[in-house]
Amino acid sequence: MVTLIMTRDPCLSKVVRIFGIAAVVWLLFTTFQLWQGRPAGQLTDLAKLSTKIVSTNDDKSVQEPPQSKIAKVCMLYYENVTESTIALESAIASHNAHNDRHHYRSYLLRKGILSGFYSKPAYMTTIILEELIKPPEERLEWLVWHDADLVLMNSEIPLEAFLPPPGFEHIHLIATNDLGGLNNGVFFIRINEWSVLLLTALTAYRTYHPGFSSVNEDQVVMDEIIQLDEWKGHVVHVPQRWFNSYHDFGKDADVPPEWHWYHHYFEPGYLLVHFPGAGEGRTDLINQYVKAKAAEPELYDVPFPKTNLTEEIAEYWAKDAKREEKIQKTFHMRQRILESVGSETDRARDKDLEEIRTRMAGESHEKIEEALSAKRKEYNSRKIENLREAEKDQRQAGTGRRYNAKARS
Ligand SMILES: *[C@@H]1O[C@H](CO)[C@@H](O)[C@H](O)[C@H]1NC(C)=O
Ligand SMILES: *[C@@H]1O[C@H](CO)[C@@H](O)[C@H](O)[C@H]1NC(C)=O
Repeated sequence: MVTLIMTRDPCLSKVVRIFGIAAVVWLLFTTFQLWQGRPAGQLTDLAKLSTKIVSTNDDKSVQEPPQSKIAKVCMLYYENVTESTIALESAIASHNAHNDRHHYRSYLLRKGILSGFYSKPAYMTTIILEELIKPPEERLEWLVWHDADLVLMNSEIPLEAFLPPPGFEHIHLIATNDLGGLNNGVFFIRINEWSVLLLTALTAYRTYHPGFSSVNEDQVVMDEIIQLDEWKGHVVHVPQRWFNSYHDFGKDADVPPEWHWYHHYFEPGYLLVHFPGAGEGRTDLINQYVKAKAAEPELYDVPFPKTNLTEEIAEYWAKDAKREEKIQKTFHMRQRILESVGSETDRARDKDLEEIRTRMAGESHEKIEEALSAKRKEYNSRKIENLREAEKDQRQAGTGRRYNAKARS
């Protein structure tokens, strides 16, 4: 190249000669530096570094801990940073210690991918399908969905503890009910084809039910689907306190105590605290619990064996898991009774209370309150009686139907 240029233009050849000299000077300078040992020193450092990497790989004792076969999935996205989104970020960060402690991978969707409520099942489907592409021994086995609005309080509890024991290989979904039915803020779902079919059925629900809409659409739809014969045999509803306990919103005193009709409220030692329906108060509640945990970690990080969960879990799988269908049937029957008979009694009570207020208008505040309180008490007992009566009727009607069916066959 250089020769070619030189023969063409004597002017250019001068330029080339200058560059040539500069190159030789640079070469001499670099050689001198090398001889001084500075770059050689850098080389030694690099060599040391690579030895370190090699020795790390060789040393079995410092290998990466094995990943759990369970991974967590969550979703949080927003346009603008507000007090509420900052609180939600700290709620998500509350999982870090738990994830590190038990080696849980955590998937977090940062963008809505489908309209409506369907990003959640769609995202889970994506993860499950990606796992199914891998060889079985490399796959995750379970996903644990958790909403963003909960604070992880006890990092000592391994999620593995809640998985079905041998003999329950047909259970693919582990969920919890609150008083409104399914709460799908936290649930376990197995990595398999069944789960893909369930989640895609859920995602496709609106296609087959145009016009259907609800505030908690994906939850309502999931609750409906898992009660269908095709799905229900593979689902269990475990005690809410295991992994979906709520902040204490109070208990109703006008439901028969033997119904155990209350949410499981958070107590120190439980895995997490969830705030569904907390509305405006949610941000404060999240901050309050995050702060409480930071202030007194030893109060909340109760070692797993000390939580009594082991016994409760073993007892659940030995007894209630086998009665899942019956327990769910009773639960939904009671829900319907509360909606009909319970609400009817409430309306009658409110009417009577209003009548007292009108009749006693002008009398002293104490006197009015006394009368109202007596009426409330009266209705409390009446409601409990009504609910018990209704349940008895329902059970008899259920038995009656069975007898009729027998008589006909
Ligand atoms: C975010 O902030 C921008 C600019 O203030 C505003 O136009 C937009 O409506 C906000 N988005 C939401 C979801 O509040
Ligand atoms: C475990 O059970 C014991 C005995 O029933 C009880 O005293 C204790 O409070 C329980 N601990 C927790 C964390 O529930």
